[in-house]
Amino acid sequence: MSGLCNEKLIYGNLINGQWVESASGKVITITSPADGSLVGEIQALSKEEVNEVIRYSKESLSLWSSVPIYEKAGILYKAAELLEERAEEISDILMMEIAKDKKSSVSEVKRTADFLRFTADAGKSLEGIAVSGENFPGGSRNKMSYVKRVPLGTVLAISPFNYPINLSASKIGPALIGGNTVILKPATQGAISALHLVKALQDAGLPGGVLQTVTGKGSEIGDYIVTHGGIDFINFTGSTEVGRHLSQISCMTPLLLELGGKDAALVLEDADLEYAARNIVEGAFSYSGQRCTAVKRIITTDEVADRLVDMLKAGIEKLPVGDPRENVVVTPLIDQKSADFAEFLIQDAIAKGAGLIVGNKREGNLIYPTLLDHVTVDMEIAWKEPFSPILPIIRVENMEEAVEIANRSEYGLQSSVFTKDINKAFRIAEKLEVGTVQINNKTERGPDHFPFLGVKASGMGTQGVKYSIEAMTRPKAITINLTE
Ligand code: NAP
Ligand code: G3H
Repeated sequence: MSGLCNEKLIYGNLINGQWVESASGKVITITSPADGSLVGEIQALSKEEVNEVIRYSKESLSLWSSVPIYEKAGILYKAAELLEERAEEISDILMMEIAKDKKSSVSEVKRTADFLRFTADAGKSLEGIAVSGENFPGGSRNKMSYVKRVPLGTVLAISPFNYPINLSASKIGPALIGGNTVILKPATQGAISALHLVKALQDAGLPGGVLQTVTGKGSEIGDYIVTHGGIDFINFTGSTEVGRHLSQISCMTPLLLELGGKDAALVLEDADLEYAARNIVEGAFSYSGQRCTAVKRIITTDEVADRLVDMLKAGIEKLPVGDPRENVVVTPLIDQKSADFAEFLIQDAIAKGAGLIVGNKREGNLIYPTLLDHVTVDMEIAWKEPFSPILPIIRVENMEEAVEIANRSEYGLQSSVFTKDINKAFRIAEKLEVGTVQINNKTERGPDHFPFLGVKASGMGTQGVKYSIEAMTRPKAITINLTE
């Protein structure tokens, strides 16, 4: 194949610098969650082909790690430029492949260009240190350790469907600037968008074999790649279920996990409720709630809830719903299984006594934004990650109970605290068992140079430009011993 796809929309994999079809002849058809139309076909690679990819990756390591950092950075700058030039084309693919609304699709591509540029800058600022032996008891100035960071080897990047460009680049960029070679296994639904990112990196001048792709169903080929002896680091974003499985089978291969969440917004009595309501509606419903950091529950007291509900309802009723090409916010979910699960969560809550304020309407995989009040701890929606546009309100007696319920979740990604009292905000923030607490803002990942991490079932390890570079490099110490 001469490019990443042919005129029949059959996409190849980038293997050792060439876009190639699988010798197995097995392909996976990708149709749009928006209207069922064909987006393209991707390859289902065989185990033998995966072996080849890993072999090329190993062979390219010494070449890539010897490329000066400023040249590596130059390739990332160029890729960022190409992504921006192709933003319209790539966001059109995102809209069809994962039914992401137009505004969020364009923003994902541009954010990724910024991410790559920032990563290139961070790479150029990497410095080593020299540690003198004299600081330790019995040590001597004659002993000095020169410490710099070196690559880990071949990084396996596994990305989820909901940010196929950004959450692929957030692994690839820092891994490459750190001197690693990378194999990307994108989500099957989302793979075509991710392949366009890879094409931009290839066109920017990456040598063959430095970045390669492996498409195919995770359930079929995933375990084989993850447990392959040639993989030196696994950087995974996806569900807690799959993340947990990978951590069980990966044995001694280090891994970084970005997993699910059940982010809570705690709204205090003195909060600016109009602001909180606007902000929470955006946080809960953008891209139909299919974000790890979506606000997935509100925990508040009766007095606040009574006032907040009307404001939330007014905001939710204004949300445009429908086809991702039509300037909307809430779009059809990624597949029928996700829509069925969303429907189950709503019906379970209503059957157990939750108050339906707005929503509970379904057309195919399109779930209308739904607000449930008086949600109690026996309801599934109180604990499960819906990954759909459902927002439950849990009413509590006081903020001590709010913190207790927030922390009772198996997840620990982020939480929000809305209040005008910064002292209260800080005291509550200290008690919340999460990676990040947002004071007076919805839960969200960016800006992308901030540390981003989940605790408990939400993940392991820290992302964010410089943190990701650190995660995918290791210290190498060379100790000099001066003789008298
Ligand atoms: P998923 O089903 O867990 O899939 C994630 C990736 O893992 C996909 O590429 C998938 O490939 C692959 N995979 C599945 N089984 C595998 C196996 N046995 N070995 C290796 N790879 C395997 O998650 P998703 O539905 O795409 O994404 C939604 C989830 O991701 C949500 O829970 C969300 O909260 C979480 N997420 C977390 C963050 C964060 O930063 N914390 C960010 C985004 C999303 P296939 O597509 O081929 O199955
Ligand atoms: O889905 C997980 C993403 O990392 C969330 O990013 O908060 O910018 O939507 P976001």
